[in-house]
Amino acid sequence: MNSDQENKAFHEKDLAWNKADALLALMSLSEKLGQLQQLDGGISKKALPQLIEEGKVGSVLNEANPMLIAQYQKIALEKSRLGIPLLIGRDVIHGFRTLFPIPLAQSASWNLDLVELGTRIAAKEATAVGINWTFAPMIDISRDPRWGRVAESPGEDPFLTTQMGLAMIKGFQGKQQYKDGNIAACAKHFAAYGLAEGGRDYNSANVGERQLREIYLRPFLAAAEEEVMSFMTSFNEINDIPASGNQFLLKEILRKEWNYQGMVVSDWESITEMIAHGYCKDKKEAAFKAMRAGVDMEMASTSYNEYLENLIKEKKIELSQIEVAVRRILYMKFKLGLFENPYPRTKNTDSILSNPHLEAAKQAAMESMVLLKNKNALLPISDEVKSLAIIGPLADAPHDQMGTWAFDGQKADSQTPLKAFQQMGSKDLEINYAPGLKISRTKDHDGFGAAIEAAEKSDLVLYFVGEESILSGEAHCRAHLNLPGAQEALLEELSKTGKRIVLIVMAGRPLILTDLLPQVDAVLYAWHGGTMAGPAIVDVLTGKENPSGKLPITFPRAVGQIPMYHAKKNTGRPATEGNWVPMDKIPVEAGQTSLGNTSHYLDEGFRPLFPFGYGMSYSSFAYNNLKVSEAKMTVASTISVEVEVSNTGKKDGKEVVQLYVQDLFGSVTRPVKELKGFQKIFLKAGEKQIVPFEISSKTLEFYDADLNLTTEPGAFKLWIGSDSNSSEFVSIELTE
Ligand code: GLC
Repeated sequence: MNSDQENKAFHEKDLAWNKADALLALMSLSEKLGQLQQLDGGISKKALPQLIEEGKVGSVLNEANPMLIAQYQKIALEKSRLGIPLLIGRDVIHGFRTLFPIPLAQSASWNLDLVELGTRIAAKEATAVGINWTFAPMIDISRDPRWGRVAESPGEDPFLTTQMGLAMIKGFQGKQQYKDGNIAACAKHFAAYGLAEGGRDYNSANVGERQLREIYLRPFLAAAEEEVMSFMTSFNEINDIPASGNQFLLKEILRKEWNYQGMVVSDWESITEMIAHGYCKDKKEAAFKAMRAGVDMEMASTSYNEYLENLIKEKKIELSQIEVAVRRILYMKFKLGLFENPYPRTKNTDSILSNPHLEAAKQAAMESMVLLKNKNALLPISDEVKSLAIIGPLADAPHDQMGTWAFDGQKADSQTPLKAFQQMGSKDLEINYAPGLKISRTKDHDGFGAAIEAAEKSDLVLYFVGEESILSGEAHCRAHLNLPGAQEALLEELSKTGKRIVLIVMAGRPLILTDLLPQVDAVLYAWHGGTMAGPAIVDVLTGKENPSGKLPITFPRAVGQIPMYHAKKNTGRPATEGNWVPMDKIPVEAGQTSLGNTSHYLDEGFRPLFPFGYGMSYSSFAYNNLKVSEAKMTVASTISVEVEVSNTGKKDGKEVVQLYVQDLFGSVTRPVKELKGFQKIFLKAGEKQIVPFEISSKTLEFYDADLNLTTEPGAFKLWIGSDSNSSEFVSIELTE
């Protein structure tokens, strides 16, 4: 922004604060407490009109009916004493009516512009019905695919998650003007929710402060600096104190250190859940501890409205604490422009499911798909293939392909892979469809016969497997990560036909593919791709689109390896190819110390099935001439590292060029590799391009043992490659 724009932006912000102050001065205690209350549009439907008129509600969530929203806003503006409009909140996580791929899939696209476009589209569609606040982006680092909410996260890496979160905040919020189709975003869930013990949702997170800051808080700090308009506290406890009452998190870090000025909303009843946590003996104590910590708005539960007045009388809570919270909420409403016009932006209704929106959702789905195997370049499907067997419960699952948090998506709008192939209407391509199983969890083999028959009479088998959408998402964690139901049994039968098989996986998390890989010729990981998953999959399988997705999370060989991620520590006894013995090769009565005492599993070794950042293309890309501008740098200097990337294949394609850094020695141990940059480039067949990255002290900084964000002199390795397993590196030295 130039200085005029900066001044204008500051002025507008300043003005919004002044307006909030002026309004606050007019409010009664009851009206102040009302602003702190968010109620569910369904549960409180009957009571809402009266409560709004009495100024006892500041926000409504889970209402998407524009008529009702308009009615509620009209009551708020015209019937309540002070005419304060409502925040209308909704989980617009990866689309409103036009569903984009689940966030984990969008992360696999590594295409930040596309992610920003997707959230801008989602915001515009949501404003059409009057929604002005979304509970996204979810930026919880997750390294445990058992956890159902990994589907909503951008994956395992702090750098990629940070970039994804920023792109989503920019897309949702724009210039923070509701009238322009912008909605307030919400950085959630604060914090370390992805560390839930055992991958069991809502469970305890225990983490040292250094790792908390180094890994889990990074995306949230960036979101605060990007002026995300709200934060949401998480359900979990962090080091024995639930987030919604956690003063260290909310007061020390968020407010004092980060100077965050936005509003903090609790998660659904997370304030009163502190009773179940055993942190509060009753709702009154819950209200006290949440307000003490600085949760501004209470979602769904009503402890604030029930007890804060008493707590003020008992001098346990100061009125000023309430007023600080109210001020933040009023500021958000002024900044969004809701006092001018909070009504549904009906002019945006035509944009819902419009062709541009559908095309963007299709592009996002195409770029999120990750090609994991392609034996003998089986894909893209060649013209010699005259008949396709389309098999599997997810080939035609319009509801499930939308994925979790698809509240406002309608399955009638989904275009499935089967329908997309059938609509190709190509005369010389016969489609033989047999689901084989009714749903992903079907255990009986009743449909196997028809599926095998379809396979036997076809040139190629496309087997659509994975999870129904309900098997991932909130509270939907799994202890086993293989294909549910009899899907794997059906694969065994299909592989006996001797036909070539393409496995298309539609899931909300990494699944264990280890035993499936040898039975198939190609694997395309399509996640839950949203409304346009079908046409997107067809375009990738037929080669109209060259797959470019890269894994945003490590795929383990076995559940027992979890947690497994690229930014691991070396340990004092790292395993390498030569220093461990696979279990089935251990000699009888082997000597106890003969196998190599290193960090690995006897049965599954030490490597994942697929590493972070991995993904194939129909092209091939070569990396050459990796070099740095200087071998030495100081904290004040910036050097560059570059590589030449060539498209050595026969098809144009996109490649995600990734920069990894290792700090070889430090005052604390450092990961063997950390993602520190990426660029998604397009190269025509035969074309090459120099891809440079800047290395500054910011690239190398980390939290030391005293929790200072700092750099230390020493040796570093830099890799630029196509995934986190890249081997070629250059060395640099950071001097004093
Ligand atoms: C849920 C989720 C949160 C969501 C909220 C409102 O329980 O934890 O992510 O935004 O409630 O639906």
